[in-house]
Amino acid sequence: MRILVVGGGGREHALVWKLRQSPRVEQVFCAPGNAGIAAIATCVELQPTDVDGLFAFAKKERINLTVVGPEAALCAGIVDRFEGGGLRIFGPSQAAAELEGSKVFCKNLLRKHSIPTADSRIFVNPRDAYEYLRTSTYPIVVKADGLAQGKGVSVCPTPEVAQAAVRTIMEEKAFGPAGNRLIIEEHLTGPEVSVLCFTDGKNLLVLDGAQDYKRLEDADLGPNTGGMGAYSPTPALDEGTRAIVEGDILVRVVHAMKNEGRLFRGVLYAGLMLTRNGPRVLEFNARFGDPEAQVLLVRMRCDLVSVLEATIDGKLDEVDLTWDPRPAVCVVLAAKGYPGSSEKDQPIQGLTEGALTPDVWNFHAGTRRHRGEIVTSGGRVLGVTALGQDLQAARTRAYEAVERVHFSGAQHRTDIARRVR
Ligand code: AMP
Ligand code: GLY
Repeated sequence: MRILVVGGGGREHALVWKLRQSPRVEQVFCAPGNAGIAAIATCVELQPTDVDGLFAFAKKERINLTVVGPEAALCAGIVDRFEGGGLRIFGPSQAAAELEGSKVFCKNLLRKHSIPTADSRIFVNPRDAYEYLRTSTYPIVVKADGLAQGKGVSVCPTPEVAQAAVRTIMEEKAFGPAGNRLIIEEHLTGPEVSVLCFTDGKNLLVLDGAQDYKRLEDADLGPNTGGMGAYSPTPALDEGTRAIVEGDILVRVVHAMKNEGRLFRGVLYAGLMLTRNGPRVLEFNARFGDPEAQVLLVRMRCDLVSVLEATIDGKLDEVDLTWDPRPAVCVVLAAKGYPGSSEKDQPIQGLTEGALTPDVWNFHAGTRRHRGEIVTSGGRVLGVTALGQDLQAARTRAYEAVERVHFSGAQHRTDIARRVR
């Protein structure tokens, strides 16, 4: 098979790495890829939202299966375009991806089907939002409706911070049209887990749980990011909780989407808070998480191609997922300035040393090759990922590997998987 992976982050590096292990795969292309992906696949200079360009490339190269990483491509309708043109592609349609693309759509669906989530109000103009904030209790959470690369959510301790969040989203339009509507919702507390499943629109295969670290700094301080680290499995998702998440949340959402005429086929990712009153949905994503994919894919033992094909063909009941029992930890190295505008073109040293250790991977995100050197080219730069006999061993290995890599201005959390929640 000839495979095209769309995207160029750590998630896509892990996907390419995993897909290449399938005995059925002959060649892997990645658009646009990065310096790490270029070492194991053929990179193509096409952006994930260049749907027509990607379609033309896939036709010309006789690609048998395209796997989509980023939400922007899904929301731009890449799956509809490929399927309409007779090409096989893994991911939800544009209509189904709206579950991630619009938090307002998601909230309305959850409410309509009584799926547990935070209480919330939807606003279409800043005046009403400011008015509502005057009588709210704090902390409170303000969320832009549309895609904002994980940066559109603010947990606001005071009215002033909440007003500033509304201003940034709706008046300054920091996230563009994603801020035409916003949600203000109740602040929930409890451990957070990411639960992903493959679904073909009727069957579900739930993956092992993963813990993501959204905040930039240790002890969950600083701004929200796309994710600064992850580990899997997570004890927070015990058997009982997992059954509740599957039955009360995932199955019901998959059925709800089908009933809405938006059959969801692909990876459905639930961002959940395990509150004292049970699991509550914070958000849905329509794709693999990043960096959750890194820790999940290094632990996945089964052939990924077969699972992706069963998802597309509506035959998920015919496959099983098998896991390496060893835990995995991923520590993200980000560029100076991230999650704001980040410094680029810093040479990265020490990449090969880390890559030589067994069960340790330097998954590249924002990297590129420039005059024979690998340099930084984005906010999140590397996802240093390790397996270990237990979580602490995996954590030690990952941090030892982090110490071997250097670039100017690098920032990372030091507490990934330190205190297991
Ligand atoms: P989201 O993109 O909606 O998952 O939000 C990003 C992050 O903001 C989540 O991972 C949580 O850490 C935090 N968050 C979102 N919604 C809430 C909420 N209702 N209560 C507390 N924290 C929240
Ligand atoms: N790590 C969170 C995400 O992929 O959205």
